[in-house]
Amino acid sequence: MTLSLSQKILIKEILALKKKKKAIILAHNYQRPEIYHVADAIGDSLNLCDLATRSKAKNIIFCGVNFMAESAAILNPNKKVYIPALDAGCALAETVDVKGLREFKKKYPNAATVCYINSTADVKAECDTICTSSNAIQIVKALPNKEVIMLPDKNLAKFVAGQVKDKKIIAWEGVCPIHQNITPAMLKKAKKDNPGAKLIIHPECATNVLEMADFIGSTSKMAEFARNDKSKKFIVVTECGMINKMKEDAPEKEFFTVCNLCYDMKKITLERVLRSLRYNQYEVKVDEKVAKKARKAFERMYELMKLKS
Ligand code: 13P
Ligand code: SF4
Repeated sequence: MTLSLSQKILIKEILALKKKKKAIILAHNYQRPEIYHVADAIGDSLNLCDLATRSKAKNIIFCGVNFMAESAAILNPNKKVYIPALDAGCALAETVDVKGLREFKKKYPNAATVCYINSTADVKAECDTICTSSNAIQIVKALPNKEVIMLPDKNLAKFVAGQVKDKKIIAWEGVCPIHQNITPAMLKKAKKDNPGAKLIIHPECATNVLEMADFIGSTSKMAEFARNDKSKKFIVVTECGMINKMKEDAPEKEFFTVCNLCYDMKKITLERVLRSLRYNQYEVKVDEKVAKKARKAFERMYELMKLKS
């Protein structure tokens, strides 16, 4: 992308201040492309959790939405995690609350509860383990339980149910509006306009959309697929920012997109990142009692990931 002069100035200031404060900047794949220029790493929800934990830096500026920064804070109680936009929420995470979840769980006493990382810390604290879009199948397979509650994304739950046939998956009825509003008709048109292009789709999309996919995966897995696949043309079906990352990773290939914008992801701007570094805005704090329980659910996720399924 071509940067404006003001963006170049902001980037220079951010990089200098980041160095001075010994901070790192982690950015989700959906972030604005100018944010990539200041990020130490760009990835999906799982990559970013891992990077936050592995990094020696004590200050982390998290360019993503709240549940991502909160996850980094839960996993790293000895580090300071900041989110440059306090109101960067996630419509999917907001479809579930603790009271509702407790009632739901009562109906299925033998089921394990697997919470998608796109959920609040309070909700994570109520769950047996956590999954992300890149390890959901692996986690559900590795659990000893035959019944599994998956929340809050019913599309991800249905996708997993299709891959793990020997378990009963009980889905919470939440969706991400950004992904849910993508329809098969939109994909058919994109395929007609771009013959021969492969369809790469995020698992938060509806089942009738996923059925058309050549590849389904997390945001980072989508990028990896496009980099390594021998095809030259891809239609990327997810949030609109994803295509920027893919074009950067594989400039020799052609990318088209069927997408919607996640406005919360776009709340992070260079100006806000600079302010975040300058004034330590906004520190993500999770009540330690909640964090302890949510951390246990994360630890279980990492244990399950080590098991062969
Ligand atoms: P990933 O973990 O695949 O990056 O997904 C996060 C997300 O919010 C998708 O909408
Ligand atoms: Fe949440 Fe959907 Fe935005 Fe992802 S794209 S952060 S699931 S609202």
